[in-house]
This record gives sequence, C-alpha cells and structure tokens, in this order.
Amino acid sequence: MTDFFVNLGKHPGSRKLIKLLKLPIVFPQELSRSTTAWEVRPLENMNIIVGNVRKTQLTSIIAKTLASAGADVHVQGDTSTLMVYNEEGTGYGRIPKQLQSNTLLDEFKPHAFVFDASGMQTASELQVVYDFFQKKIKYLGTCGRMIIIAQHPSTIKDIEAASAARALEGFVRSAGKEIGRNGSTSLIIYVDPEAHDRLEPVLRFFLSYRSAYVSGQPVHLSANVKIHELPYFTRPLDQKIALVTGAARGIGACIARTLAREGAHVICMDRPSENEPCARLADEIHGTLLLCDITSPDAFNSILDFIQKKWNGKLDIVIHNAGITRDKMLVNMTSEIWSQVLEVNLISIIRVNQALIPHIQKDGRIVCLSSIAGIAGNTGQTNYSASKAGIMGYVQALAPTLYDNGITINAVAPGFIETQMTSTIPLATREVARRLSSLAQGGLPEDVAEVVTFLSSPGASGITGEVLRICGGNFIGA
Ligand code: NAI
Repeated sequence: MTDFFVNLGKHPGSRKLIKLLKLPIVFPQELSRSTTAWEVRPLENMNIIVGNVRKTQLTSIIAKTLASAGADVHVQGDTSTLMVYNEEGTGYGRIPKQLQSNTLLDEFKPHAFVFDASGMQTASELQVVYDFFQKKIKYLGTCGRMIIIAQHPSTIKDIEAASAARALEGFVRSAGKEIGRNGSTSLIIYVDPEAHDRLEPVLRFFLSYRSAYVSGQPVHLSANVKIHELPYFTRPLDQKIALVTGAARGIGACIARTLAREGAHVICMDRPSENEPCARLADEIHGTLLLCDITSPDAFNSILDFIQKKWNGKLDIVIHNAGITRDKMLVNMTSEIWSQVLEVNLISIIRVNQALIPHIQKDGRIVCLSSIAGIAGNTGQTNYSASKAGIMGYVQALAPTLYDNGITINAVAPGFIETQMTSTIPLATREVARRLSSLAQGGLPEDVAEVVTFLSSPGASGITGEVLRICGGNFIGA
C-alpha cells in the first residue's frame, strides 16, 4: 500500500509548487531506512554531536561506540571529556573534533545529537540540556536522531536528581513531536548502573536508520538478565532457530525475512489455509514450513514435535506475531468474536509459551506483537485492545521469571503500519491514522521487523519486560 502524500513529497517540484501556492499541505518526509544486513560500521562518516552535563563512567562507552561504528564525532564538553573521546577514537583512526561554534553545524547538518545526562545531579542542571539542544536542534539533518542517555529514576536515591531524570523523558517526548516533520526521531535511553556494558549495541541500533519509526519514548536497560554470549555486530543470529507465528503475510512475513537475513533458520508458521504463501516464503528464505493454528489445543505439541524432529528440540527465538481484529462496538459485540480475538491474540500465546519456554536455549529471546490500541484504546476494539494490553502485562510479569535462564521477553506496540490488515480500514479513517504520528505517515512492516530482529539479537540483553512502541511518535498513547 502506498501513501499518496509521501510519494508526492519525494518530488522537489511538487514541494516547491505547494510552497509557491501557499497551500496548507505539509508533506511527510520520506524516511531513510536501512534494510540490508547489519554492517560493522552502521554510522560510517555520519556527523554526530555529543555533549554532557559532566564526564561520567558512560563517557568512554559512548565514545567507543561512536568511533567503532564509524561516526565523525564533534564534542561539546570540557577538556577531560574531549580527552576520553580522543583516547577511544584513536584506536579506530577516528579523532574527534571539538565543536567550536553552533553555526558550523549549518555546514554539515549532523545526523544525530547524543547527550549524556547520566551525571545530572539537580533539577536546575536541566538548563544544561536546554542550552545544548536549543541552539542546535534546527541544524539536525533530515531523518536525524536525538538521543539522551540518563540513569533510570527508580535507581537514583536523591529525590531531586530522580525528578530531573524523569523530566528528560517529557523533554524527549515533546522534542520528538517537533522534529518529526523532518523525518527525525527522539529517544531517551535509561541505563542502570550495572548495565553500562549493555549500552553499545542499543546505541548503535537506535542511531542507525533501522529505527526509523521509533520515537518519543524511553528505553530502559538493566542487568537483570544473565548474559552467556557476547553481542555480534554482523550476522547476529547465525546458528539460531527462530519460530515466527502468522508468517504468511504482512508484518510476520517481513519479520521472518529479516531474521533470516541476519542468519537465523526460521520456522514459518501459519494456519493451514495459508499453506501456499507460507510455503513460498519458507522456500524463499531457506526456512521451514509449519502449518498449525495457534489456537488449537495441541498447537504446542505440534511445535515441540516439529523442533524435536528437525533440531533435537533446539529453539532460540519465538516471535508471537499472529493476530486478528474483529471490530464491533461493545454494545454489538458477540461473545464469539470477543473470545476469538482474546484466544488468538493472548490466551494461545500464554498457553504455547508455557510449553515452549523450557526448551528455549540460554540467551533466548521472545517478542510478542502488541499494539498502541492496547495503550490508548480504540472505538470498536474492546476485544483487541484488551488482548494487546494483556500482552503488555504478560511480558512485564513473565520477564523476572526468566532472568536466570538468560531469556528476555518483550512486547512491541506498532502504531499504524501499512499492511493487508490496515488496508481494510475506510480511506478517511486510514488517512487520519497515518497523519496522527509525529512523522505524519504510517510505518512499514520493515520498521517493525528491524526492531523485532534487534530485540532478538544477543546485543539486546539489557532490554526485558519492556514495551517498545513502533508508532512514529503517535499523538495517541503513552
Ligand atoms: P495480517 O492480518 O496481515 O497477518 C496476520 C497473520 O497471522 C496472517 O498470516 C494470519 O493467517 C495469521 N494468523 C491469524 N490467526 C492465526 C492463527 N490462529 N494461527 C496461526 N496464524 C494465524 O496482520 P499484520 O498487519 O501483519 O499484523 C501482524 C501483528 O501485528 C498482529 O498481531 C497485529 O495485531 C499486530 N499489529 C498490526 C498493526 C498494523 O497496523 N498492521 C498495528 C498494531 C499491531
């Protein structure tokens, strides 16, 4: 499905004409996306401006991450901060520059601003954050990134410092709404003190074009989950066996392709009625086909038998993507469609997971598809929203029980994504849904697939029990 306004906006001529005629039309910026296999240097030659409140333990980690990812770093900070960037950059042949003046930014339109606020001690130091961004933000390049790194308020003992850390979240949410028209996104990464070593892969991912449709929210890194495997920056899923439910089409098919691209062997599972498209996909990505309705009472037996026969019971990644909508106002909702939706979207996931989890390997990953409808609610979707909110509660409650096994479980909550499911929405409603995001457009299945693939990788060990929105900073919802 194509978006008329995104397509029209690709032509500089039409942009000029609209400006000349003073028509009240804002073209959404076509998003830069990266859909090839993960590379060693995802930020090759990109200009990134860094700043901080003061030098912290994270300074060297941020410096190393940016240098090893190939970025050209410009530092605004004191001499001791610059020295750290020099030390870390030298090893990668990337000597940082000191930012002398904001006006210089006009020459190279930076790809990103990264601000380390983990050393913030008082609420009045929020002024430093304002000073850093206020003069610079207008120079942010198209489809740029604005990332703040801070300590999570729940891990800060000082009350004022905890309040200031939370203030940053509000700042990031609002800034994301302001920079979205430029195709740019904002994010705050909260890092627990014991989780510093888990920041690098996360920062690489969110600074890259793979996170195109994630904006205006926090990501929390903890050290709760045990690590057995170091992160890889290329082919992160080599040797992994992954199960994707609802793989025949839409977001599920895209997730299956992306996991396979990064080295996983993918079991493409869907209902028997989807035999043809699902078999075609399995063939295309050298995966295997499993026809099974997730709601059937013995679905978990079919899956377990299948993995037992093919891979001696080895399973690393489970993506619960299968989902349905059956919309009706509550007053007209039959018990049948209520339970159909709850059964596919929530109950069968809980049932199947119970049986599968004992077979999931160390460093295993589970990702469940939720929806922003589960956060914000939606007219005519009491069944769907209940099921998708239930998924959020489920991952939050289950995550601590899997810490010692090294398994993470997270939910992703897509906003409006261009698929067969959303193509059935009436045109006017569809248009409104698209423009409701800060990026003023719907996302693509690729946007969801890239995030799910990242969450499935060893480098995402710091993220568990979380709900990550993939909604372009939708105006509705948290
Ligand atoms: P889709 O309708 O295009 O594909 C869903 C797939 O799930 C189909 O292949 C279908 O055959 C399969 N499926 C349905 N019931 C099944 C069952 N009982 N057993 C096995 N497979 C079954 O949907 P789409 O748009 O690709 O969505 C994928 C997931 O993302 C769903 O969970 C949906 O709720 C969620 N989502 C989608 C959004 C969107 O804008 N498209 C927004 C928010 C969440």
